[in-house]
Amino acid sequence: MNTAFALDVKLIPASQFTLDELTGIYNQTRVDYMVPMPMNAARLAEYISVYDVDLEHSLVAVQEDDLRGVAMLGVREGRAWITRLGVIPTTRRTGVGEALMAGLLDQAEKLNIQFDMLEVIKNNTPAHTLFLKLGFYEIGELLVLRRSPVPPLDPVVADAQRLERHEALTLVGRDRGTQPWTNQSESLFNAQEVSGLYLTLGDGSRGWLVYQRQKFTLTRFIYKTEVGDPVKLAYAFLSHLHHQYPRLDTHIENIQVNDPHLPAFYQMGYVESFRRIEMWRGTPPQSLLAR
Ligand SMILES: CC(C)(COP(=O)(O)OP(=O)(O)OC[C@H]1O[C@@H](n2cnc3c(N)ncnc32)[C@H](O)[C@@H]1OP(=O)(O)O)[C@@H](O)C(=O)NCCC(=O)NCCS
Repeated sequence: MNTAFALDVKLIPASQFTLDELTGIYNQTRVDYMVPMPMNAARLAEYISVYDVDLEHSLVAVQEDDLRGVAMLGVREGRAWITRLGVIPTTRRTGVGEALMAGLLDQAEKLNIQFDMLEVIKNNTPAHTLFLKLGFYEIGELLVLRRSPVPPLDPVVADAQRLERHEALTLVGRDRGTQPWTNQSESLFNAQEVSGLYLTLGDGSRGWLVYQRQKFTLTRFIYKTEVGDPVKLAYAFLSHLHHQYPRLDTHIENIQVNDPHLPAFYQMGYVESFRRIEMWRGTPPQSLLAR
């Protein structure tokens, strides 16, 4: 790292900035990003709330009076999540990204957290190299999938029960602490418009799907096959879901590449948008593994 240059960069708690300022700097750091993900202040506010982003322990890099970069820290019991890291293109390779990351890891340690998680888009070499340098290691590969609405098909014959929010969240449970952050229980508990489907097929197989319904999009799927073949069950619950919402797009993220339900998603018209690498630093505390 070029410390001579980075030394005159100050790291200031993100809580000292308005949401508009944070949105502005975040968007500036992502103008050339591999997957365009522009934010507005309302979306950033929702992101902060759903993912338990702690702005007091998140950081903005400032040089003289100019904002140069940002990095945010999600905080949950026994674990921290690095997110929204970016440095504006004209300031890159001068040590600011590493300073922001080191600053966030310090903040996590101050909160007595020694287990840090993140995801990085596959082939994002600058970020991946930075994370390896700071002691993160690869855990696995995750998929981001999309499905456009297509004319409805008949749902698979099954006993299908709609689950209200509280029933859906009870099935999700509270033991998903080492899942990717976006798919942990807290993310679902913090989200609006969560409901689900419980399906029993004629051959006795059964399972459930919990999801969030946004205005134009279905998202945040958590699902489980309790009995039977995961592909058959997933095909059945997806056929019911898409029959119920024939006009909505679907966008789901951070599905493990070895998820046994995946063939059903492809059969149902889902396509891969991109892949992420999941990385950890430190080891998950026993309290997370034991739950
Ligand atoms: C990733 C990013 C934040 C790095 O910020 P930066 O200020 O340029 O990084 P630094 O100058 O502090 O570099 C620190 C280390 O990162 C790695 N690195 C940074 N840029 C790199 C590049 N282009 N190629 C390879 N490694 C790179 C190196 O290990 C470097 O250490 P070194 O200088 O000893 O080789 C920046 O490239 C960025 O904002 N990218 C777009 C947004 C993004 O990808 N965010 C991460 C999402 S997960």
